[in-house]
Amino acid sequence: MSINIAVLASGRGSNLEAILEAIAQGKLDAKVKLVLVNVPGAGAIEIASKYGVATAVVPNAGLNRKEHEEKVIAELKKHDLDFIVLAGYMRVLSSGFLANFKDERGFFKVINIHPSLLPAFPGIRGYEEAFEYGVKVAGVTVHLVDEKVDHGPILAQATFNRAEDDTIESFKARGLRIEHELYPQVLQNIAKDGVTFFKRIKDETAEAQLNQGTDRETARR
Ligand code: GRF
Repeated sequence: MSINIAVLASGRGSNLEAILEAIAQGKLDAKVKLVLVNVPGAGAIEIASKYGVATAVVPNAGLNRKEHEEKVIAELKKHDLDFIVLAGYMRVLSSGFLANFKDERGFFKVINIHPSLLPAFPGIRGYEEAFEYGVKVAGVTVHLVDEKVDHGPILAQATFNRAEDDTIESFKARGLRIEHELYPQVLQNIAKDGVTFFKRIKDETAEAQLNQGTDRETARR
């Protein structure tokens, strides 16, 4: 089944491009209905235009979080969307925003990619902090978004090794290539099978669901 998505970005948009390219190549059964950016001039806009995708620029400058989110929600609500896909969107989403995109089980239909093996190294310097820490195995995480930053049920993770002669640039470049493979794959899995993730037995929501008793949580759109 094909999924309708909006991609939210703030910067260069290389993950957006990977998603659009996967769709163009028939590897991802999805339609990007809208690319929304909060930074005028963000590279993601040009990429969206190259692929003929509708764009919206909603700058946050001069607005408080609620005012900005209301404008973003108004743009998103113009489309029939199955999922909101964050690809380098540098804004924390409030619970008020997320409440607009709740699925029937109470999870949010908002997906993010983060450049570390969560829960390690949340925040905006995932690759840098992992590198500075001296990790031997690094990685990227695709997860459902919840009210906490870089937090929520993990959909997929992929790892890569740090080489002894890596610089931060070569380390980041290797990670980014993995992001570009992983994100379209995860979205395709969702298009095919719905959202699936392992239970998190320390999580209250998952605990409640544990009582319902399956080994894996599966939600279909
Ligand atoms: C990526 O590293 C992503 O994991 C993080 O922000 C970066 C966005 O890069 N959330 P791009 O705009 O997709 O090139």
